[in-house]
Amino acid sequence: MSSTAPESPLAKQQARALELRRLLNQAAHAYYVLDAPLMEDPVYDQLYRELLDLETAQPDLVSPDSPTQRVGGAPAQGFQSVQHRIGLLSLDNAFNTAELEAWYGRLLKVLDREPPAALPMVGELKIDGNALALSYEHGVLVRAATRGDGEQGEEITANVRTIASVPLRLQLEHPPAWVEVRGEALIPDDTFAAINAERESRGEALFANPRNACAGTLRQLDPKVVASRRLDFFAYTLHLPEDWQAAPGDPERPSNQWAALQWLQQAGFKVNPNAALLPDLAAVEAFFQHWDSGRRQLAYATDGVVVKLNDLRLQDAAGFTQKAPRWAIALKYPAEEAPSKLLRLSCQVGRTGVVTPVAEFEPVPLAGTSVSRATLHNADRLAELDLHGGDTIVVRKAGEIIPEVVRVLPELRPAGAPRLQLPHTCPECGSELVREAGEAATRCVNSSCPAILRGALRHWVSKGALDVDGMGSKLIEQLVDRGLVRSIADLYRLDGALLSSLERMGSKSAENLVSALEASKAQPWHRQLYGLGIHHVGEVNAKALTKAFPSAAELATAALETPEAITAVYGIGTEIAQSLQQWFATPANQELLTSLERTGFSLAATDTELRAAEAATAATALLNGQTFVLTGTLPSLSRSQAQALIEAAGGKVSGSVSKKTSYVVAGAEAGSKLSKAESLGVPVLDEAGLQALLQGS
Ligand code: IVH
Repeated sequence: MSSTAPESPLAKQQARALELRRLLNQAAHAYYVLDAPLMEDPVYDQLYRELLDLETAQPDLVSPDSPTQRVGGAPAQGFQSVQHRIGLLSLDNAFNTAELEAWYGRLLKVLDREPPAALPMVGELKIDGNALALSYEHGVLVRAATRGDGEQGEEITANVRTIASVPLRLQLEHPPAWVEVRGEALIPDDTFAAINAERESRGEALFANPRNACAGTLRQLDPKVVASRRLDFFAYTLHLPEDWQAAPGDPERPSNQWAALQWLQQAGFKVNPNAALLPDLAAVEAFFQHWDSGRRQLAYATDGVVVKLNDLRLQDAAGFTQKAPRWAIALKYPAEEAPSKLLRLSCQVGRTGVVTPVAEFEPVPLAGTSVSRATLHNADRLAELDLHGGDTIVVRKAGEIIPEVVRVLPELRPAGAPRLQLPHTCPECGSELVREAGEAATRCVNSSCPAILRGALRHWVSKGALDVDGMGSKLIEQLVDRGLVRSIADLYRLDGALLSSLERMGSKSAENLVSALEASKAQPWHRQLYGLGIHHVGEVNAKALTKAFPSAAELATAALETPEAITAVYGIGTEIAQSLQQWFATPANQELLTSLERTGFSLAATDTELRAAEAATAATALLNGQTFVLTGTLPSLSRSQAQALIEAAGGKVSGSVSKKTSYVVAGAEAGSKLSKAESLGVPVLDEAGLQALLQGS
C-alpha cells in the first residue's frame, strides 16, 4: 500500500522517534530482563544517539517512556511523601516447621477446610532488598515509591527510572487505566562488592550489606548516582482495576499468583525464575530446604522464602490481620549469628584520615569462615551499640559478606567494665581528632600523619593506580617510619643503594623496584589522577575527568575557576567538583604536583591517549558536530565559561554566524550576530536554552 500525501518532515521524525524508542526499549528488555541481548552495544549506542539527536532538535518528541529519560533531570532537593493506592503490607514470619504448620492450620480454618486439605501454593524467594510500589497509568510508569510505613512512602520515580529492568512502558497492546506492581529492588553481590571497593579506594565509609546499599541508593538525591549503582528489580505482586479484562492479544487477567507472575513477565518485568508451584505442605518444606543451602549459589542475597496461597479468590477469602495477609508467610533462614567475647577496640586510620573503630573478638565460625574482627563503622554506631570492655557481643556475617557486630549482651557484662569510645587523639600521630557537624566520620586532619601518608603511598602504587610491582605495605611502613619518604614524589628519589639497605631487600629486588618506579611514570594520565587519591575520585570518575581535561593544569584551572565545566562531565556531580576544588586549592597538593613533574611525570594525556579519547568522544559527545556562536552578555555564565561547557560536551565555538552554525547563544545587548542568525534561520538560544541542551534535554 502506498500513501498518497507525502509525509511532513515532522511526522517522519515522529515516526522515527517512535520506532527508535520501541527498538531501544525492546533491546534493553532483552538485555536486562531476559539476559539475551538482541544487538551489539555499539549498535544500541548508535540508535540511542540518533534518538537523542532527534529529541534534542525537537523537544516535543520526548516522551516519558523514552530510554533517554532513564537518567535525566537535576538532583532532587528532597522527596515528596505519597499515599499508596493500595497499602504495602508486611509478612508474618515462621522460623521452624511447627510455626509453618500452625500458619497452615489457621489458614485452613478461616477457609473452612478440613485438615489435611491440600491448598496449592506458590513458593518464591524472599529477596533481601527494598520493597517498591510502581504505578503505571495507561501503560506508562508514572510513579515509584518506597514502602515507607506501608500507607505512605517516598516518591522516588526519577531514581527508579534508572533501574534498567523496570519497564518504562508495559508491553501490552491495551494496558489498563492503572496497574500497581510491587517488587523488590536489590543490588547483586558482585555489584555490591564493586561499590564498596570503589568507596574504599575513595576513603569513604563502606555499606554494611547490599540491602543497606540499595536503601541508601534509592534515597540518593542525584539520579546519576543511582544509575551508576546498577540496581535490579524483581516484580512479585500485581494489582489491576477490578473490572479490567484483557483485550485479545494481551495476557489474560490472572486468577492465581502463578499466573500473575507470568502476566508480570509478559508485561516486561523481571520475575525471579526460582518461583515454584507447591501442591502441599510437604512441597513447601522441600522448597525451603532446597533454598536454605541453594541460596549460596545465587548472585544476590535472600533471607528466606515466601509462601503464598495460589488462588487469588481464596486469598481474598482469607483476608488480612492487622499488618499482614493470612494467605502468605515468610519462612526465614536461621540467622548466621554467633556470640563472641570482645578482646579490644582498635582504630584504623585510613588514607583520607578517617578513623574507623574495629572490634577484635575471640574467633567464631560464621558462614564457613572464622571471623575475629568487625568494623564498627563510626562513633555513632559505637555509641548505639553501647560497647563496654570485655562485653559479650553477637556477631553476624551480614549478607554473608562483611562481618558486623549486631548487638551487645549487657546481662553478661563484667562489673565495672568501662564504656568504650573513640579516642580524642589520633592513634598514629597523636594530633587532635576532628568530627565536623553533620559528618559521620571522625578524622585525623594532620596531612603529615604517617597513617595518612602510608595510605596515600599504598594507594598510589596499587593495581588500579600506578601499579608499582614490589612496593608492599611492609616496605612502605619502613620508608615512612625512617623518614625516607615524606610524600609520593619522594618515592622517585629512592635509589638502589638506599633501598637495599632496608630489611628484607636484596640488591636485585632493590634494582627491580627502582625500574618499576621508573616505568610507572609512563602510566596513563587517568591512573595518575586516580593515584592522587582525591576524595570521590575513583577509577571511573578519574577516567571521565581525564577525558574531558587532558592535563593536570587544565583540570586545576577548571576546578578552581569554572566548576560548571567539571559538573558538565557525564557522571560528575557537585560533590566531586567541590572535592577537586578543595584539593587543588591546597598548597601542599600543588607542591606535590610540581615535585611529580620534576621527577618526570607528565600529569597529562599522551598523544595516543588523546587520539583514543577523541575517537571515543566523537562517538558519544552530546554536542558533537555542532557549532555555536556566542553573542551578548549571558546572565550568569561568562563567555569563556559558556565556551568551556560547550566544548566539554563536544561542541565547537566559532566567531561568526553562517548557514552551518547550529545555534547562536544570545545574551543581553546581542548585536549583529543575532540579526544575522535570524535572517539565516539559525536557531537562537538564551542561557537557559543552552543549559537545557547541555543537560541533554
Ligand atoms: S510479598 C502482602 N514476596 O519481604 C505481600 N515480599 O518481610 C507482601 N519480600 O515487605 C509482600 N521478597 O519487601 C513478597 N517474593 C516476595 C518477597 C517479598 C522479598 C519482602 C518485601 C516485604 C518483606 C516482608
